[in-house]
Amino acid sequence: MTIKKLLASVVLSLAATVVLAQNAAPAAQPQVESVNILEVNKDAQAQREKAESQPANNQPIWKSANSDKAHYVSIPNKEAGVLIQKSGQQWRLIRNGVITVYGGWLLVLAAGAILAMFVIKGTIKLKEPMTGRLMKRFSSVERFSHWLMAFSFVALAITGLLILFGKHFLLPIMGGSAYGALLLVMKNIHNFTGPLFTASTVLFFVIFVKDNLPTKDDLVWLASFGGLLSGKHIASHRFNAGEKFWFWGGVTILGLVVSGSGWVLDMIVPNLEYWRGTMQLANIIHGVAAILMTVMAMGHIYIGSIGMQGALQGMKTGYVDEAWGKEHHELWYNDVKSGKIQK
Ligand code: HEM
Repeated sequence: MTIKKLLASVVLSLAATVVLAQNAAPAAQPQVESVNILEVNKDAQAQREKAESQPANNQPIWKSANSDKAHYVSIPNKEAGVLIQKSGQQWRLIRNGVITVYGGWLLVLAAGAILAMFVIKGTIKLKEPMTGRLMKRFSSVERFSHWLMAFSFVALAITGLLILFGKHFLLPIMGGSAYGALLLVMKNIHNFTGPLFTASTVLFFVIFVKDNLPTKDDLVWLASFGGLLSGKHIASHRFNAGEKFWFWGGVTILGLVVSGSGWVLDMIVPNLEYWRGTMQLANIIHGVAAILMTVMAMGHIYIGSIGMQGALQGMKTGYVDEAWGKEHHELWYNDVKSGKIQK
């Protein structure tokens, strides 16, 4: 074969290769810019110099890798360039240390305080005998919104506490397989009940806000802590200052924080960038607010059930005895009796 023929066949086979390669390539190839790694990552220059001056010293490489910084990668994943997310360790220490330890003790203390209160004080009884005459306290819509919020919250509290603490007390008893299956169910109940809780809280807020606006009578109630220590009766409107504190501080503010962070963790907030840091921050906020709200809810559930005679009847049936109304919410009682409040 002559040189000319050899060259011709090489050129032809190259052309054929290029044509084949073009046809085999996907229609729209993303343009990959050529990048000088030394320009993109300033540390890289220092690393290279260090590698030359101290060949065995890989500290600069690990220092750079063990940071939250996203380094350059050409794969289309926003966090692939973060080799080790350093703040993940800080998150782990807060979640598995501060929140579980201090939050756990706070829950135990709250439960202990409620138990002590029940043992020492017992159920708060009515001073006057029941009259047998009933007065309307809650409409069916009000009761529905309360129980929807209460049951969804209790489901969230139980499943959430299992997610946070279960591995410390259930895992050793149940073993990995059973505990894993249980937690999968708990997690799904938790994730799907969250938005229901948010919706019921919004409904509850709209229905009840007008009767929870602060008035000057609340100051009298607060100054004597609802007469809890003196045993003296403090007159209040439909809701006393303690209930208003629970409404605003517990249900509205903490409910909003728990719901908002929960929606982030559920990844259902539109147009939000879900970075690992975003999820870690949401997780810490969610855990702290949820524990505080659970502590407050424990106190509320106690006083709304076995802690006070006749309270549960109102939320169960919609009616309370007139003696209860007069004793616990005298200003409201007077307004109902005078016809100022139409029920
Ligand atoms: C599951 C057990 C619960 C029981 C037995 C219970 C009981 C009661 C009762 C009896 C009342 C009426 C008090 C009155 O007549 O003045 C009430 C009101 C209320 N409950 Fe519950 N409750 C429970 C759970 C919850 C939960 C989990 C929440 C919040 C997530 C909640 C939030 C409220 C609020 C905000 C009020 C009205 C106070 C106000 O608007 O100021 N309850 N509850």
